Formats: sequence, C-alpha cells, structure tokens
Amino acid sequence: MTVHISVNSEVLQRAQQQIQQDLKIALDAFFIPEPLKSAVNHAVMLGGKRVRPALAYATAELSEDHKNFAAVRRAAVAVELIHCYSLAHDDLPCMDNDLLRRGQPTCHVAYGEDTALLAGDILQSMAFEVLGSRLFDTQVTVDPSIVLKQMQILATSSSKMVCGQVLDLQAEGKKIDQEALENIHRNKTGALIQAAIMMSAVTVMDGVDAGIPKLREFGQVLGLAFQVQDDILDIVSDTETLGKTAGKDELVEKSTYPALLGLDAAKEYANKLHQQAISALDYFGDSASELKQISAFLLARKS
Ligand code: IPE
Ligand code: IPE
Ligand code: MG
Ligand code: MG
Ligand code: MG
Repeated sequence: MTVHISVNSEVLQRAQQQIQQDLKIALDAFFIPEPLKSAVNHAVMLGGKRVRPALAYATAELSEDHKNFAAVRRAAVAVELIHCYSLAHDDLPCMDNDLLRRGQPTCHVAYGEDTALLAGDILQSMAFEVLGSRLFDTQVTVDPSIVLKQMQILATSSSKMVCGQVLDLQAEGKKIDQEALENIHRNKTGALIQAAIMMSAVTVMDGVDAGIPKLREFGQVLGLAFQVQDDILDIVSDTETLGKTAGKDELVEKSTYPALLGLDAAKEYANKLHQQAISALDYFGDSASELKQISAFLLARKS
C-alpha cells in the first residue's frame, strides 16, 4: 500500500504538540538547581522532530483500549528524555564535537562541558523516575508489571545505545564491513526507536498478542533505516535545513552507509528497509495507518 502524505505529517505535528506539553509538565515536576535547569531545558525543549514519542502514540492506536494511555504518555516522555541525553553527550568535544544541534548551539557550547555532561546524566535518571511515577494518571492505575516491562525495555535499549556509541567512535577512520556497520547503527540508534514502539506495545497490548513480534520487527528495521537516512542526510542536506553541521561525517571519517556503499546504493538500501518495515505492519490493517504515515514521513524527511 502506498501512503500519501506531505512532508509535514499531520500525525507528527499532533504528537509534537502532545509531547511538548508533557515534557514541560515532567520537567516542572523536578527541582533542579541552576545552571543545570537551564541546560536541561535547552537539551529537551528546543526543537527536535519528536519521532520516538510519535511512534509510541501511534503504536497505542493499534489497540482500541485507551485506559492505559497515561502510561504511554510517560513512556513517550521517558524515551525522549533518554534521546535528548544521548544527543547532549553525542555532541560533546570528546565525542562528535559538534557546535550546532536542532538549530541551536549544542548544550556544551551554551552551558559548558561540565553542565552539559551533567544535563545528560540527570536526564537519564529522570526518564526512569517518570516511568515509575503517576504523572498524567487519572483514575486508572497501571498494572505494575507493565511499568516493569517499560523500564526493562528502556534500560536495555539505553545500554545498547551507549554500546553503539563506543563502537561508532572506534570505527572512525577505519574500514569496517556492512555487518559491523549494521551492528553499530542498530545499537546506537535503532534500539531506542524500537524501544519507543515496544514500550507502548507492552502497555496497550496483551503480552501474548501475535502482533508483538510484528512490531518488534517493524521497530528493528525502521530503527536501522532511520540511521541510514541520517547518514545520507549528512551528505545531501544542508546545515540550515538539518539544524546540525552538514558534511560532518566525511570530515571526521565516520563509518557510514554512504561511505561504505556509495550514496546511491545507500539511498536504495534506506528505501528497501522502509518498505520492509511497512510490510511488517500489514498484519494490523487500517489500525496501523498512523505508524505507516510516520514511516513514510521518515523516508521523505529532509532533516
Ligand atoms: C538524531 O536523531 C540522532 C540520531 C539518533 C540519528 P533525530 O533525527 O531524531 O533528532 P531530533 O530529535 O529530531 O533532533
Ligand atoms: C547519533 O548518531 C546516535 C546517538 C545515539 C545520538 P549521530 O552522531 O550520527 O547523530 P547526529 O548526526 O549527531 O544527530
Ligand atoms: Mg555520533
Ligand atoms: Mg553526532
Ligand atoms: Mg549523524
């Protein structure tokens, strides 16, 4: 099935509004001394496509039962907080050494390396505190076994992200094969994207639902596609559109898909992965239309 959407996906826009509001509520619930509070605010509130929260909300649409939606909102906040922490650390001089993020000075440029490092640290623990909280709850209290599953998924994927990051740094300036590159991308980026989907899935679906493995596959393939696309955009897009410095990967000889396969073959691969991801959703029929829209947006994205 072909999904027609504008690049400004309506589903994504709605998700952006929801998560912006929820992130503010979540951050306001914590007492953080200055300058850390401002650095956290900088890392979290300023821009970002909010793809991971959007995937969590869209996954919840697969079920007609919305009684646990507060827990999906907490999962969306938690995964975005971990993502923002990963970006603040990814940009540090000891890592990718970047000056621009989401069209703003990176966290360490604005607040210093010490505060940016600590902003990432606190975001990580805040994510788990949010998951264990009753933030957004109305009458219904979510079954603690669901909260535990959410925490396990987020913890595992965050660890994978860190493992992927260290492999990414080690691979700079080296020639690695496609299997090794795929392993980096699945870990540093794919795991958290899959987590956004699976944290929501375990909240709204029965653990034995036959759809769970389909979603796991969708998340895994989409997550890999997302980083292949990120590598491509670093070459084909420009700094203003990206909100981060274009051409940076080649400059520091990052191991990327375009570097390994060539630009055209990398684009073809991204395309193939997207089709594969969308096929995994066929099982759900029309209820997956939001997930399909987000996938189509991601393939067409310019930043
Ligand atoms: C950028 O992620 C870093 C990667 C994992 C590729 P996004 O492209 O989701 O960044 P934002 O959140 O929209 O800024
Ligand atoms: C980022 O990969 C992966 C993370 C865990 C943050 P990149 O280093 O390619 O992300 P950008 O291009 O800086 O956003
Ligand atoms: Mg990096
Ligand atoms: Mg980077
Ligand atoms: Mg990149």
